[in-house]
Amino acid sequence: MKVLGISCSPRRGRTTDGLVGDVLKGVRAETEFVSLSGLRIGPCLGCLGCVPDNLCKVRDDMSGLRDKIVAADALVIGAPNYFDMLNGLAHCFLERLYQFRHREGDILHGKLGVAVGVGGGKPESAVRDIEKFFTYNQIEQVGSVTARGPASCFHCGHGEDCTVGAIHMFFGPGTKITEELVPDLSKQPDAREAARLLGQKLQQHLEHDSGPAMRTS
Ligand SMILES: Cc1cc2nc3c(=O)[nH]c(=O)nc-3n(C[C@H](O)[C@H](O)[C@H](O)COP(=O)(O)O)c2cc1C
Repeated sequence: MKVLGISCSPRRGRTTDGLVGDVLKGVRAETEFVSLSGLRIGPCLGCLGCVPDNLCKVRDDMSGLRDKIVAADALVIGAPNYFDMLNGLAHCFLERLYQFRHREGDILHGKLGVAVGVGGGKPESAVRDIEKFFTYNQIEQVGSVTARGPASCFHCGHGEDCTVGAIHMFFGPGTKITEELVPDLSKQPDAREAARLLGQKLQQHLEHDSGPAMRTS
Protein backbone atom coordinates (compact mmCIF):
# COMPACT_ATOMS: atom_id res chain seq x y z
CA MET A 1 0.00 0.00 0.00
CA LYS A 2 1.21 3.44 -0.84
CA VAL A 3 0.17 6.94 0.17
CA LEU A 4 1.10 9.89 -2.02
CA GLY A 5 1.22 13.32 -0.37
CA ILE A 6 1.09 16.29 -2.71
CA SER A 7 1.59 19.85 -1.55
CA CYS A 8 0.32 22.39 -4.07
CA SER A 9 1.91 25.40 -2.38
CA PRO A 10 4.47 27.23 -4.50
CA ARG A 11 6.27 28.11 -1.24
CA ARG A 12 8.61 25.24 -0.46
CA GLY A 13 8.92 24.13 3.16
CA ARG A 14 6.09 26.25 4.47
CA THR A 15 2.75 25.52 6.05
CA THR A 16 1.11 23.32 3.40
CA ASP A 17 4.24 21.20 2.98
CA GLY A 18 4.46 20.82 6.77
CA LEU A 19 0.85 19.84 7.33
CA VAL A 20 0.81 17.33 4.47
CA GLY A 21 4.01 15.90 5.96
CA ASP A 22 2.33 15.60 9.37
CA VAL A 23 -0.50 13.54 7.88
CA LEU A 24 2.07 11.25 6.24
CA LYS A 25 3.81 10.81 9.61
CA GLY A 26 0.66 9.14 10.94
CA VAL A 27 0.71 6.57 8.11
CA ARG A 28 2.58 3.28 8.52
CA ALA A 29 2.28 2.30 4.87
CA GLU A 30 4.87 3.44 2.33
CA THR A 31 4.61 7.19 1.73
CA GLU A 32 5.96 9.63 -0.79
CA PHE A 33 5.85 13.41 -0.56
CA VAL A 34 5.79 15.56 -3.68
CA SER A 35 5.91 19.35 -3.73
CA LEU A 36 4.50 21.00 -6.83
CA SER A 37 6.69 24.03 -6.14
CA GLY A 38 8.77 24.79 -9.21
CA LEU A 39 6.92 22.28 -11.38
CA ARG A 40 5.30 23.45 -14.58
CA ILE A 41 1.73 22.20 -14.50
CA GLY A 42 -0.74 24.03 -16.70
CA PRO A 43 -4.53 23.82 -16.76
CA CYS A 44 -6.59 21.22 -18.56
CA LEU A 45 -7.01 22.46 -22.14
CA GLY A 46 -10.26 20.58 -22.69
CA CYS A 47 -8.72 19.12 -25.85
CA LEU A 48 -10.20 15.67 -25.15
CA GLY A 49 -6.91 14.09 -26.20
CA CYS A 50 -7.20 11.86 -23.13
CA VAL A 51 -10.56 10.35 -24.13
CA PRO A 52 -9.25 7.29 -26.05
CA ASP A 53 -6.72 6.13 -23.46
CA ASN A 54 -7.09 8.17 -20.24
CA LEU A 55 -3.69 9.71 -20.92
CA CYS A 56 -3.23 13.50 -20.95
CA LYS A 57 -1.45 14.72 -24.09
CA VAL A 58 -0.30 18.05 -22.62
CA ARG A 59 3.45 17.89 -22.25
CA ASP A 60 4.48 19.34 -18.91
CA ASP A 61 5.45 18.14 -15.43
CA MET A 62 2.10 16.45 -14.84
CA SER A 63 3.35 13.58 -17.00
CA GLY A 64 5.91 12.66 -14.35
CA LEU A 65 3.23 12.58 -11.65
CA ARG A 66 0.77 10.39 -13.50
CA ASP A 67 2.40 7.05 -12.60
CA LYS A 68 2.71 8.07 -8.95
CA ILE A 69 -1.00 8.90 -8.81
CA VAL A 70 -1.96 5.64 -10.48
CA ALA A 71 0.24 3.62 -8.10
CA ALA A 72 -1.06 5.28 -4.95
CA ASP A 73 -3.83 3.76 -2.85
CA ALA A 74 -4.43 7.09 -1.15
CA LEU A 75 -3.83 10.74 -1.98
CA VAL A 76 -3.15 13.44 0.62
CA ILE A 77 -3.67 16.71 -1.22
CA GLY A 78 -2.73 20.02 0.39
CA ALA A 79 -3.39 23.51 -0.92
CA PRO A 80 -3.28 27.05 0.37
CA ASN A 81 -6.21 29.45 0.18
CA TYR A 82 -5.64 32.15 -2.42
CA PHE A 83 -8.56 34.58 -2.72
CA ASP A 84 -10.91 32.36 -0.77
CA MET A 85 -10.37 29.34 -2.98
CA LEU A 86 -7.62 26.84 -3.57
CA ASN A 87 -4.55 28.29 -5.30
CA GLY A 88 -4.04 28.20 -9.06
CA LEU A 89 -1.32 25.56 -9.01
CA ALA A 90 -3.61 23.22 -7.07
CA HIS A 91 -6.46 23.94 -9.45
CA CYS A 92 -4.32 23.19 -12.50
CA PHE A 93 -3.06 19.96 -10.95
CA LEU A 94 -6.54 18.81 -9.96
CA GLU A 95 -8.07 19.76 -13.33
CA ARG A 96 -5.59 17.45 -14.96
CA LEU A 97 -7.13 14.49 -13.13
CA TYR A 98 -9.69 14.75 -15.93
CA GLN A 99 -7.46 12.37 -17.89
CA PHE A 100 -8.57 9.53 -15.62
CA ARG A 101 -12.30 10.00 -16.08
CA HIS A 102 -13.13 8.56 -19.49
CA ARG A 103 -14.94 5.40 -20.54
CA GLU A 104 -13.71 2.52 -18.38
CA GLY A 105 -11.23 4.86 -16.73
CA ASP A 106 -11.91 3.99 -13.11
CA ILE A 107 -8.31 4.60 -12.18
CA LEU A 108 -9.10 6.97 -9.31
CA HIS A 109 -12.29 5.25 -8.22
CA GLY A 110 -11.88 3.72 -4.77
CA LYS A 111 -8.66 5.51 -3.88
CA LEU A 112 -8.77 7.21 -0.50
CA GLY A 113 -8.35 10.96 -0.12
CA VAL A 114 -7.36 13.40 2.60
CA ALA A 115 -7.71 17.15 2.09
CA VAL A 116 -5.26 19.54 3.74
CA GLY A 117 -6.14 23.23 3.78
CA VAL A 118 -4.01 26.21 4.74
CA GLY A 119 -4.95 29.87 4.85
CA GLY A 120 -4.01 33.15 6.41
CA GLY A 121 -7.50 33.40 7.84
CA LYS A 122 -9.75 30.84 6.17
CA PRO A 123 -7.91 27.54 5.56
CA GLU A 124 -11.20 25.65 5.19
CA SER A 125 -11.82 27.20 1.74
CA ALA A 126 -9.03 25.11 0.25
CA VAL A 127 -10.41 21.95 1.87
CA ARG A 128 -13.85 22.67 0.45
CA ASP A 129 -12.43 22.90 -3.07
CA ILE A 130 -10.17 19.85 -2.81
CA GLU A 131 -13.13 17.80 -1.57
CA LYS A 132 -15.12 18.80 -4.64
CA PHE A 133 -12.39 17.34 -6.85
CA PHE A 134 -12.40 14.17 -4.71
CA THR A 135 -16.15 13.82 -5.17
CA TYR A 136 -16.00 14.33 -8.94
CA ASN A 137 -13.26 11.73 -9.23
CA GLN A 138 -14.95 9.18 -6.94
CA ILE A 139 -12.13 9.37 -4.43
CA GLU A 140 -13.36 8.28 -1.01
CA GLN A 141 -12.79 11.09 1.48
CA VAL A 142 -11.31 10.00 4.78
CA GLY A 143 -11.11 13.46 6.34
CA SER A 144 -9.53 16.87 6.31
CA VAL A 145 -7.28 19.03 8.41
CA THR A 146 -6.50 22.74 8.40
CA ALA A 147 -3.94 25.17 9.75
CA ARG A 148 -3.20 28.85 9.48
CA GLY A 149 -0.14 30.04 7.61
CA PRO A 150 1.55 33.42 7.44
CA ALA A 151 0.29 35.74 4.71
CA SER A 152 3.15 37.50 2.95
CA CYS A 153 1.90 40.75 4.50
CA PHE A 154 3.57 39.79 7.77
CA HIS A 155 6.96 40.11 6.10
CA CYS A 156 6.52 42.58 3.23
CA GLY A 157 7.45 45.57 5.37
CA HIS A 158 4.17 47.44 4.91
CA GLY A 159 1.74 45.08 6.66
CA GLU A 160 0.81 47.38 9.55
CA ASP A 161 -0.10 50.33 7.32
CA CYS A 162 -1.40 48.62 4.20
CA THR A 163 -5.16 49.02 4.06
CA VAL A 164 -5.71 46.23 1.52
CA GLY A 165 -3.46 43.58 3.08
CA ALA A 166 -4.08 40.58 5.30
CA ILE A 167 -3.13 42.31 8.58
CA HIS A 168 -5.93 44.86 8.30
CA MET A 169 -8.29 42.27 6.86
CA PHE A 170 -7.79 39.56 9.48
CA PHE A 171 -6.77 41.55 12.57
CA GLY A 172 -8.04 45.08 11.93
CA PRO A 173 -6.37 48.49 11.41
CA GLY A 174 -3.83 49.51 14.04
CA THR A 175 -2.60 45.94 14.60
CA LYS A 176 1.10 45.71 15.42
CA ILE A 177 2.99 42.83 13.87
CA THR A 178 4.68 40.84 16.61
CA GLU A 179 6.41 37.48 16.37
CA GLU A 180 3.54 36.05 18.43
CA LEU A 181 1.00 37.15 15.84
CA VAL A 182 2.67 35.38 12.91
CA PRO A 183 0.68 32.13 12.44
CA ASP A 184 3.49 29.62 12.10
CA LEU A 185 2.71 25.89 12.02
CA SER A 186 5.05 25.34 14.99
CA LYS A 187 2.60 27.34 17.11
CA GLN A 188 -0.32 25.09 16.20
CA PRO A 189 0.34 21.79 17.99
CA ASP A 190 -3.36 20.92 17.89
CA ALA A 191 -3.43 21.15 14.09
CA ARG A 192 -0.27 19.08 13.81
CA GLU A 193 -1.66 16.44 16.15
CA ALA A 194 -4.94 16.42 14.23
CA ALA A 195 -2.95 15.85 11.04
CA ARG A 196 -1.07 12.91 12.55
CA LEU A 197 -4.29 11.38 13.87
CA LEU A 198 -5.83 11.78 10.43
CA GLY A 199 -2.86 9.92 8.99
CA GLN A 200 -3.55 7.09 11.46
CA LYS A 201 -7.21 7.08 10.45
CA LEU A 202 -6.15 6.88 6.82
CA GLN A 203 -3.92 3.92 7.68
CA GLN A 204 -6.86 2.14 9.34
CA HIS A 205 -9.03 2.75 6.27
CA LEU A 206 -6.29 1.40 4.04
CA GLU A 207 -6.08 -1.78 6.09
CA HIS A 208 -9.84 -2.13 6.31
CA ASP A 209 -10.38 -1.51 2.60
CA SER A 210 -7.51 -3.65 1.40
CA GLY A 211 -9.77 -6.54 0.37
CA PRO A 212 -10.24 -7.63 -3.23
CA ALA A 213 -12.37 -4.58 -4.01
CA MET A 214 -9.50 -2.17 -3.26
CA ARG A 215 -7.63 -1.10 -6.34
CA THR A 216 -3.92 -1.77 -6.26
CA SER A 217 -2.96 -0.07 -9.49
C1 LIG B 1 -2.18 35.53 -3.77
C2 LIG B 1 -2.56 35.15 -2.35
C3 LIG B 1 -3.88 35.25 -1.96
C4 LIG B 1 -4.26 34.87 -0.66
N1 LIG B 1 -5.59 34.94 -0.32
C5 LIG B 1 -5.97 34.47 0.90
C6 LIG B 1 -7.37 34.47 1.25
O1 LIG B 1 -8.24 34.89 0.50
N2 LIG B 1 -7.73 33.97 2.46
C7 LIG B 1 -6.80 33.47 3.34
O2 LIG B 1 -7.18 33.00 4.42
N3 LIG B 1 -5.46 33.49 3.05
C8 LIG B 1 -5.04 33.97 1.85
N4 LIG B 1 -3.70 33.99 1.52
C9 LIG B 1 -2.71 33.57 2.54
C10 LIG B 1 -2.21 32.16 2.32
O3 LIG B 1 -3.25 31.23 2.36
C11 LIG B 1 -1.18 31.86 3.41
O4 LIG B 1 -0.06 32.70 3.21
C12 LIG B 1 -0.73 30.42 3.47
O5 LIG B 1 0.15 30.28 4.57
C13 LIG B 1 0.00 29.96 2.23
O6 LIG B 1 0.39 28.61 2.35
P1 LIG B 1 1.97 28.19 2.47
O7 LIG B 1 2.44 28.76 3.78
O8 LIG B 1 1.99 26.73 2.45
O9 LIG B 1 2.63 28.82 1.31
C14 LIG B 1 -3.28 34.41 0.25
C15 LIG B 1 -1.94 34.34 -0.15
C16 LIG B 1 -1.58 34.71 -1.44
C17 LIG B 1 -0.12 34.62 -1.85
